[in-house]
Amino acid sequence: MSDVKIESILHENRKFNPGANFAENAHIKSLAEYEALYAQAEADPLKFWADLAEKELHWFKKWDQVLDWQPPFAQWFVGGKLNISYNCLDRHLTTWRRNKAAIIWEGEPGDSRIITYDQLHREVCQFANVLKHLGIQKGDRVAIYMPMIPEAAIAMLACARIGAPHSVVFGGFSAEALKDRFNDAQAKAVITADGGFRKDKVIALKEQVDLALADNASPTVEKVLVVERTKEPITMVEGRDFWWHELQKQVSADCQAEEMDSEDMLFILYTSGSTGRPKGVVHTTGGYNLYTHITSKWIFDLKDTDVFWCTADIGWITGHSYIVYGPLSNGATTVMYEGVPRPSNLGCFWDVIEKYRVNIFYTAPTAIRSFIKMGEEIPNSRNLSSLRLLGTVGEPINPEAWMWYHRVIGGERCPIVDTWWQTETGGVMITPLPGAIPTKPGSATRPFPGIIADIVDLDGSPLAVNEGGYLVIKHPWPGMMRTVYNDPERFRHSYWEHIHPIDGHYLYFAGDGSRKDEDGYFWVMGRVDDVISVAGHRLGTMEIESALVSHPAVAEAAVVGCPDEIKGEEIYAFVTLEGDYAASDSLVSELKDHVVEEIGIIARPKVIQFTDALPKTRSGKIMRRHLRNIAAGKEITGDISTLEDMTVLDKLRGQEAKHH
Ligand code: WT7
Repeated sequence: MSDVKIESILHENRKFNPGANFAENAHIKSLAEYEALYAQAEADPLKFWADLAEKELHWFKKWDQVLDWQPPFAQWFVGGKLNISYNCLDRHLTTWRRNKAAIIWEGEPGDSRIITYDQLHREVCQFANVLKHLGIQKGDRVAIYMPMIPEAAIAMLACARIGAPHSVVFGGFSAEALKDRFNDAQAKAVITADGGFRKDKVIALKEQVDLALADNASPTVEKVLVVERTKEPITMVEGRDFWWHELQKQVSADCQAEEMDSEDMLFILYTSGSTGRPKGVVHTTGGYNLYTHITSKWIFDLKDTDVFWCTADIGWITGHSYIVYGPLSNGATTVMYEGVPRPSNLGCFWDVIEKYRVNIFYTAPTAIRSFIKMGEEIPNSRNLSSLRLLGTVGEPINPEAWMWYHRVIGGERCPIVDTWWQTETGGVMITPLPGAIPTKPGSATRPFPGIIADIVDLDGSPLAVNEGGYLVIKHPWPGMMRTVYNDPERFRHSYWEHIHPIDGHYLYFAGDGSRKDEDGYFWVMGRVDDVISVAGHRLGTMEIESALVSHPAVAEAAVVGCPDEIKGEEIYAFVTLEGDYAASDSLVSELKDHVVEEIGIIARPKVIQFTDALPKTRSGKIMRRHLRNIAAGKEITGDISTLEDMTVLDKLRGQEAKHH
């Protein structure tokens, strides 16, 4: 991190006030109301969170202590008992919401389902019983590797209902990545499907699970549950594999929600960091339930009449928090869409909005940039008048993309919430409240009430207005991750030891650089560690390097991100070869395929550049800043006097783009 200089060249002065009508009807109606809430939460955070927990959630038993903070380990609502599936389902059944649509689902081929709260409750209870019958008990980990079908949400809620932590793995990961996650989580069961539809192709999910389990490679996995989705032929292993629909018929729809301790683990979700293998981010029940609930309500201004659509995949935290738990805890109607824009249907998102009269639409900057490229005739030919609020997440949004989103999709009437957060934070941390905080294109604006965020230097000292530095959180919050699964030291080291305040105060830092302007608005600039974001997918450069080096031809590899107009970043790999191997175009494709096999399709490098040597410091550290410049086609600037071999850089520049 030390060779990073945080700079921003963005100058943006446009400001958009919430419309009077929007503000009047919003949960939080004015800047003054936000500021009062913020001040209240800052003055007495425990009271602020406790009041909300009491008001917004159902508890079987109230907590004894709001927060137990043994830095960096937090426990929220200690001694409290609740169940998030109860909060997402059961408590709505005694209200008029019983027959309200909980999930509106649209499949990629055009099939669809609308599931009411009552129906969802029944299916979740049945599947919870299926899990119990297969021997899954409270505390057992269950992996979920599924397409975007209702059963994915049902599986998550069923796990939560019986207290079995789930670990969802995105469908774009390969068998190797699955195997690592099954083993790290010591998963007892896997829930998957025969396949899924994506971009008009069939993704063979069950086949990847079979590979991950072959030769006893994942010895803890005892049972595999398979949803029939594509009807493509698959192999079912007797005694290990079971069809979801067959077991679902054999069980009752009665299943009491387990009374979970507030701090019982709800799920593990793996995410990439700058070093080592992906980390199992642990979230627990009470704090996560409250945090996703209240952020959904205030940031998306959720009302009972709304149709809310978050386009993420449930394999990511955004899907966990804002397709499943947050909206359902609020009793909202949440849309789940299996498809993504594809050549055969570039306008599919707008069709979904028109068909279901979506009111709130939450997507990623990479998607917005691809829509811009497709041309505004596509959205303009659909009726998007139902929209009242837009959101974005995943990476900084460039002001021009923000303006396009505002004008073309929002018809200049919808506020935009640019939401900054992370897998680790559980829910949104810095964001406009749409009826209260004026927006500036490209800024995530201000912290959510109860979130004390700041920009500091490596000593933890706050920086001046507009000075670039490290974005930190200074007080624990209910949605924060609790630990890295089975590795508390890694948790401490990864998030709490980069910034060293002189007073020893613990500051949470998870990798972003930012500045704060004269209005206290945050302008997040992106990662300052070795994590890159490809189409909003977070990847550690070291993981990709390890994948490359595991190929016999590769001696050394260095991976950096290079700018891409649509995806934000692309993967650019510098590779030195073992003596017996020669550079060739076929080796380039072989290495790219190898990375796909080791990690998944989301990690396929765009460029592989062979080189005789990598630029290193005398102490042997790869000089990534220079490699980033070469990858971006920029001139090398700055101090290169520590380069062990100065000619390496010249050679690299000369070879650039030869073997793409
Ligand atoms: C990283 C977290 C949780 C959302 C999905 C990604 C970047 C996220 C923004 C935003 C600027 C953003 C950060 C962060 N990021 N949202 N609105 N503006 N950057 O979750 O995979 O855990 O990645 O995404 O760099 O650290 P994730």
